Amino acid sequence: MQDLNKLWKIFNEKFTDTGLTKGAFSAPGRVNLIGEHTDYNEGFVLPMAIDKKIIMLGQLRNDRIVQVFDLGYKTETKFYLDNLSPYKKDTWVNYLMGGMDEMQKAGYHLQGANLIFISNIPKGAGLSSSAALEVVTVLTMAKLNLLEIKPVEMAHLCQRAENNFVGVACGIMDQYVSCLGQKNYALFIDCRSNDYDLIPFKDHNYQIVICNSKVQRGLVNSEYNRRREECKRAAEFFNQILNREIRSLRDITVDEYKIYQSQLPEVIARRAKHVISENRRVQSGVQALRMGNYSAFGQLMIESHQSLQDDYEVSCKELDLLVDLALEQEGVLGARMTGAGFGGCTVNLIEKNYIGAFKESIKNKYKKITGINPVIYVTPPAEGAKVLELRG
Ligand code: GLA
Repeated sequence: MQDLNKLWKIFNEKFTDTGLTKGAFSAPGRVNLIGEHTDYNEGFVLPMAIDKKIIMLGQLRNDRIVQVFDLGYKTETKFYLDNLSPYKKDTWVNYLMGGMDEMQKAGYHLQGANLIFISNIPKGAGLSSSAALEVVTVLTMAKLNLLEIKPVEMAHLCQRAENNFVGVACGIMDQYVSCLGQKNYALFIDCRSNDYDLIPFKDHNYQIVICNSKVQRGLVNSEYNRRREECKRAAEFFNQILNREIRSLRDITVDEYKIYQSQLPEVIARRAKHVISENRRVQSGVQALRMGNYSAFGQLMIESHQSLQDDYEVSCKELDLLVDLALEQEGVLGARMTGAGFGGCTVNLIEKNYIGAFKESIKNKYKKITGINPVIYVTPPAEGAKVLELRG
């Protein structure tokens, strides 16, 4: 990624100095270690920020215009803060506009700004480049406008931007970890209370390795929404049958599931089984990591993938292949698909000494079977969104 001086040079060539507050900001992508499709069921997740991010440079303007230049795609646009509505073409702009729209709806007054940004988070790979763009935009606009917005509120503004403006009914995980991730820690989030805990993840023997399958099914949005609906139906069923309020599948224990599952339609029962068991896996996983028991954690990752593959049915053959190939390799403690599914990436827990051999073997075998060159990233847990510099 280019250094800040170079980026400022580009910024200064592009825009005339307004003499007002300027700054540089960043927000990372994420990988989820365990807890998939649990966030919108008010459950538990354990993602970490990765060392791939978006950097945005900005300066306030004296009017209500926002002018923005995407350095990666060499494309630009201009819009008015008084007139925000989603673009049908150039949909990347919606992530920025949506964030600003939600800030204004929350009562924050914004002045216009000149912005440029650059990203090294692969797009469409399930590593949350969209959440990072929302987060870096809201952070930039907040700081330039001298607004105090706490990270959890920021995450919610960004989630609403994605729900209302971009039109994707995502949960809170991606925006949350992009805002609150910390170096050498995974983030255990309770998606009901919004409490979080930092879980140390810097054992020198193990590393997180991400394999990008390079496939992305168009299905992801419709199937995602369908899963949400199925979970809602399951929760409604339990709410009727049990003698207490059930707001979501988060409220159901594995034992209760076992007693009543046969009364649910078969598909709905499997969806519920995944969510209920996944919540338990996250809690056990957090305990395992706290005790430094990485092999127990790896085992839970493997079980999570099985459940996503068989019961939740959001994997695909390329992801299953990457997991199978990984588990044949020496030094691999766990492997699973990560993110919404239907393509994107797998996340692997690997003993450091074996990473070189792992990369070479996976690249060769995956290419041989699918004809696709996978991309492999090794990343420690990185820090969340932050101010790189703020002047004036
Ligand atoms: C996507 C969504 C998240 C979460 C995951 C699945 O990344 O944006 O909110 O639901 O899928 O765990």
